Amino acid sequence: MKLLLAVATIITLLQPYDATPARIVCYFSNWAIYRPGIGRYAQEDLPVDLCTHIVYSFIGVNDADWSVLVIDPELDVDQNGFRNFTNLKKTHPKVKLQVAVGGWAEGGSKYSAMVAEKSRRDAFIRSVISFMNQYEFDGFDLDWEYPGAADRGGSFSDKDKFFYFVEELRRAFDKEGKNWEITMAVPIAKFRLQEGYHVPELCELLDAIHVMSYDLRGNWAGFADSHSPLYKRPHDQWAYEKLNVNDGLQLWVDYGCSPKKLIVGIPFYGRTFTLSNSNTNYNPGTYINKEAGGGSPGPYTNATGFLAYYEICPEILNKDSGWTKKWDEHGKVPYAYKGNQWVGYEDPESVQIKMDWIKSKGYGGAMTWAIDMDDFHGLCGPKNPLINILYANMNSYSVPEPTISTTPRPEWARPPSTPSADGSKPVQTTPKPGQWVPEKSTSTTQRTTTVSTTEAPPAPAVSNPQNEVDGSVAPKECKQDFMPHELCDKYYRCVHGKPTEFACRPGTVFHTQSNICDWPEHADREKCKKIEQ
Ligand SMILES: *[C@@H]1O[C@H](CO)[C@@H](O)[C@H](O)[C@H]1NC(C)=O
Ligand SMILES: *[C@@H]1O[C@H](CO)[C@@H](O)[C@H](O)[C@H]1NC(C)=O
Repeated sequence: MKLLLAVATIITLLQPYDATPARIVCYFSNWAIYRPGIGRYAQEDLPVDLCTHIVYSFIGVNDADWSVLVIDPELDVDQNGFRNFTNLKKTHPKVKLQVAVGGWAEGGSKYSAMVAEKSRRDAFIRSVISFMNQYEFDGFDLDWEYPGAADRGGSFSDKDKFFYFVEELRRAFDKEGKNWEITMAVPIAKFRLQEGYHVPELCELLDAIHVMSYDLRGNWAGFADSHSPLYKRPHDQWAYEKLNVNDGLQLWVDYGCSPKKLIVGIPFYGRTFTLSNSNTNYNPGTYINKEAGGGSPGPYTNATGFLAYYEICPEILNKDSGWTKKWDEHGKVPYAYKGNQWVGYEDPESVQIKMDWIKSKGYGGAMTWAIDMDDFHGLCGPKNPLINILYANMNSYSVPEPTISTTPRPEWARPPSTPSADGSKPVQTTPKPGQWVPEKSTSTTQRTTTVSTTEAPPAPAVSNPQNEVDGSVAPKECKQDFMPHELCDKYYRCVHGKPTEFACRPGTVFHTQSNICDWPEHADREKCKKIEQ
């Protein structure tokens, strides 16, 4: 028996895996067709062969009858926007053509109301299926920004309800038998993850996670800065310390998502600022005139606080334009300024650095918001320079099979499953042999260390108010969602406004920085590093 087991284990270990091709996900904004002059971007402009997935953005939710809402019926239906798009398959059979529901402009309250009740979820899912069949899309992308976000019309119960919705959608799609994919666009701020996402379960259910690793700074922050820095910079403090691409992606991994499902977002646009009066300090983090709402609108995208790459690159290229370009040595991104205008953006150099980093981390590919903001006319050189860098790097890269993570999944975080109305079984979430398991493995396979190597050890928590609680007595009130306990293998969580004691899985201890139970050797409290296993 023992021998048999050993043989089975060896066979499992030796089984080769199909190389997983990396994804190149191109979001397409249907409204780009309304941009004036050379800004006009129609479907004919799509570099279809440079993307593995193209995502038509957006459709919405109709909260009168919980059906799919067509946001621009004249463009999408009368002028055949949807139909032309899915017809691209005839000439490009390999590309996956998806449709996205949501987006920033849709708000969050309709989505919160939709997932709240089973009957509404059922109605919406029925409507989605008939929509998918009608227009023959290959996949569905969830862009609710964001479940559980009170500032966006969400509520506390969204986290479980959103998970039920995804589970029910997956089941319904699988039953349809057309291999439709389900993907999701997600934020990287820790509080957003905690509020709205059952990370390991969602990652198992979905085909890919499109990480919105941009818009990490903007006029709203109150200072001028790049919005997609790869790493922490010296001036990043407080909530901004971890708000960079590298740490944001690592957070998804730490919360239990397989790296191969994570698709890294690259913005093909800059965030702009108007500096405060007579401010001549142009370093990232400098003072702005917040009331201006951002930098001046570009000639084509015509929005305050925002410029397409093709609106930026000609200015940088033209030595007489008055723009000065600089490089953020720590964040690995360019920025530029002229007078009181400041922009943080991406260029070929920064995109290439991000591609090398994606490959070094074993992530599943690259995504862009949005394809219509690349230099598609070739104003600054060859056409579509940025997407060509994504293609050149991702097309020759196979996503590696992640090593087994040692981060266990806390029991309390597992959402209960709802049975479907028709009695069909919940989707199988038991991992296949060799599949990356975001929890302690009980198999005989070797235990490897964490999936990825971080650039530097996390900074000590001196300035982090999340960690000021001393666990020697039970906290009387909820200062934050998670609080450490005097005993290493226990912790407190806020439940209905009261600190409530929870226990880690045997052999693990509470990590006060990441708020998860982890191996003792990863403990961030000295006394917790030596717990008997
Ligand atoms: C769809 O294709 C037709 C025929 O090429 C074209 O006339 C129409 O403008 C296209 N619609 C959109 C929204 O791109
Ligand atoms: C830009 O937007 C403003 C309103 O925000 C509008 O009045 C103006 O006509 C737009 N310009 C162009 C070129 O679209």
